Amino acid sequence: MLPTFVRATPDGSERGQFLALDLGGTNFRVLHVRVQKDGQETDSKICAIPQEMMQGPGEQLFDHIAACLGDFIMAQNLKEQSLPLGFTFSFPCEQKEIDKSILIRWTKGFNCSGVEGQDVVKLLKEAVHRRRDYDIGPVAMVNDTVGTMMSCGYKDQRCEIGMIIGTGTNACYMEEMRNVQRVEGNDGRMCINTEWGGFGDDGYLDDIRTEFDVEVDRTSINAGVHIFEKMISGMYLGEIVRLLLLRLAADGLLFDGRTSEVLRRPSSFPTKFMSDMEEKDTGQENTQNILTELGLNWDPVDVRVVRLVCATVSSRSAHLCAAALATVADRIRANRGLDHLKITVGVDGTVYRKHPTFSQRLQAMVRLLAPQCDISFLVSEDGSGKGAAMVTAVSQRLALQSRLLEDSDSDEEQQQKLYH
Ligand code: BGC
Repeated sequence: MLPTFVRATPDGSERGQFLALDLGGTNFRVLHVRVQKDGQETDSKICAIPQEMMQGPGEQLFDHIAACLGDFIMAQNLKEQSLPLGFTFSFPCEQKEIDKSILIRWTKGFNCSGVEGQDVVKLLKEAVHRRRDYDIGPVAMVNDTVGTMMSCGYKDQRCEIGMIIGTGTNACYMEEMRNVQRVEGNDGRMCINTEWGGFGDDGYLDDIRTEFDVEVDRTSINAGVHIFEKMISGMYLGEIVRLLLLRLAADGLLFDGRTSEVLRRPSSFPTKFMSDMEEKDTGQENTQNILTELGLNWDPVDVRVVRLVCATVSSRSAHLCAAALATVADRIRANRGLDHLKITVGVDGTVYRKHPTFSQRLQAMVRLLAPQCDISFLVSEDGSGKGAAMVTAVSQRLALQSRLLEDSDSDEEQQQKLYH
């Protein structure tokens, strides 16, 4: 449960020009967002992050980010402006302030040296300054869940939860300040990053973990942590299925007891295969093609069993997410002392978006588990990068509002002095 220093969702009155960076998966996006009265305009560019850079020195990664940002700023003719920048950084961070955020640990295949325990905003600024050819304005750092909540919040002001089910999984929500012990003050609300992917790291999920979950964790680059994520998200689901297929074959229940060299290779069964196999109309044919591609000898019963394995693993993921989401929504309801809560969840992530049945299964289970909450789901169209720009826009609006308030307070003081 990490405070994010985001104290409000958009109210529609935000305006201005912002830069945004979005780092969290294999790609990295740079954006220029104009927030205007009649909506937002965005230009963006995607830069790839080579695999070796994901596990190399941190300085190299931040130099690469600063170089991509620099090229974009030049191409957009923004060099002279030093615009405020929203930085979506989708890893667990201990946020000290909106512009100070310490990386707790890498997840999702990243493992750059020299970054854990460091302030990521400082590392970004240092990389920009090393270049000496452009500068940036104030930085607001956010998790991708927060970016998603904020970008959906611009369209739907009931959006007070952000959820990602993609390469990794996580959610954030608006908590009452009186419950946020790590930050001073009791008034208002603050967005909390739950980092629910780390649920189970203390052994809480041991009763429901299978031998396949244990194996996926053991062979990952961050063994022992993000246990819930490893049962749910796109980076791991395909691998769980692969291990299950190997076991069923070893027990003589699939492929006549035989497997293939390809299937025995780790990561040879990407999560995308599950989506293809579970497709309603084309799933059977897709399964046949994929099994052939994997070098397996199959018969029609094998095809049915493999599809059933995929459906079991993806339903378990959807149901686990639903349990976590229902808990968060019901907490918000109880916090506000309501019998009934109407709320919107801003969602993003490839598993949620692309898997043919995942979203329906999740929604049906949430309805069952949180009957006092009426939850709508809004898929983020803009990605979390735009949301980071919205965080910057909202914090500028709040600063302006509090300045206006202070000004009007001092006007009142002046008048009182005049009268007494
Ligand atoms: C990270 C979260 C992030 C989630 C979704 C997880 O691995 O720890 O910070 O929000 O992935 O991208």
